[in-house]
Amino acid sequence: MKAIVQHELGGPEVLRTCEIEPPEPIPTEVQVRVRGAGVNPVDFKTRIGRGMSSVIGPPPFTVGWDVCGEVTAVGGGVTRFQVGDEVFGMPWFPREAGAYAEFVTAPSRHFEHKPHALSIEEAAALPLAGLTAWQVVVDTIRVQDGDDVLIHGAAGGVGHLAVQIAAARGANVIATARAEQADFLAGLGASRTLDYRDDDFEAHVAELDSVIDLTGEYGERSLAVMRPGATLVSVPSGAKPELLALAKAQHKRATGILVEPDPVGLAGLCDLIERGKLGVELDEVFDLEQAADAHRHAEDSHGAGKIVLRVP
Ligand SMILES: NC(=O)c1ccc[n+]([C@@H]2O[C@H](COP(=O)([O-])OP(=O)(O)OC[C@H]3O[C@@H](n4cnc5c(N)ncnc54)[C@H](OP(=O)(O)O)[C@@H]3O)[C@@H](O)[C@H]2O)c1
Repeated sequence: MKAIVQHELGGPEVLRTCEIEPPEPIPTEVQVRVRGAGVNPVDFKTRIGRGMSSVIGPPPFTVGWDVCGEVTAVGGGVTRFQVGDEVFGMPWFPREAGAYAEFVTAPSRHFEHKPHALSIEEAAALPLAGLTAWQVVVDTIRVQDGDDVLIHGAAGGVGHLAVQIAAARGANVIATARAEQADFLAGLGASRTLDYRDDDFEAHVAELDSVIDLTGEYGERSLAVMRPGATLVSVPSGAKPELLALAKAQHKRATGILVEPDPVGLAGLCDLIERGKLGVELDEVFDLEQAADAHRHAEDSHGAGKIVLRVP
């Protein structure tokens, strides 16, 4: 099969198309013919030796954790899927999944049936960003009807999904993003967008119930606009000890998170899609063999939404 393999750490040019053996499923696993693979910041962080590279070890490896495709083989004991089913999921994270390839194999419960309402590319874009948003909004903060929630980095892959999930739970969502994204974010359910280049968000919000920081830049400043008992989730690189101590001193909660494979979360996302409460915004679609160009675009883009590799 074709796979994007890197034999060294480095810039996008290390992503090369290679021929390798497809993985075979053992009992409890399915083999999936990949039709679309989402691109996430952790892919290019891992490519250069950050991200999950300490988990997956030195090259050679294949990055990518977002998959949409069809089941081509079913291991013993699997009852939820048959050959031919269209599925999507975030297999193996944070271990190597090798999603930038024609086939992946993983435990069947790392996948869910693809929602009919989504295209293959949209479904490929959803799992990692969607599960992160779900595990932050639903499992970690437990956003409630009427909560005031501030989301930093709201127009990006995780942010635009977190806005919709929080709004679907009845929250009043305030977003930070470029002003150009204000109409897009209003359409997703944000009540207000503050331009992070011009506005000091502290001048506009106070006594918030929760803050989701997708930039990693606003920990201490976010605590200052939260009510006692409120929760701050710092998504990119966790909450540093000083931030945890400051939060505790102010009787607030700060935490990091690392997204996990999660069939319950995938089912929750599917339910929101079926009820018309959640959609996926695509920024750009590339062919698998253009993985290096996709990474260049991902690292430079100021567009909204997700980047996907199409696997012909
Ligand atoms: N811990 C986990 O399990 C986990 C899971 C998923 C993602 N992450 C991390 O979370 C971060 C976000 O992921 P993503 O997929 O959403 O990335 P993304 O699609 O690149 O989105 C990031 C967004 O943040 C915006 N932004 C940049 N600087 C900002 C600032 N100072 N204030 C407000 N917004 C700002 C960007 O806008 P412009 O550049 O257009 O201005 C962009 O819309 C990444 O660091 C990623 O690695 C962690």
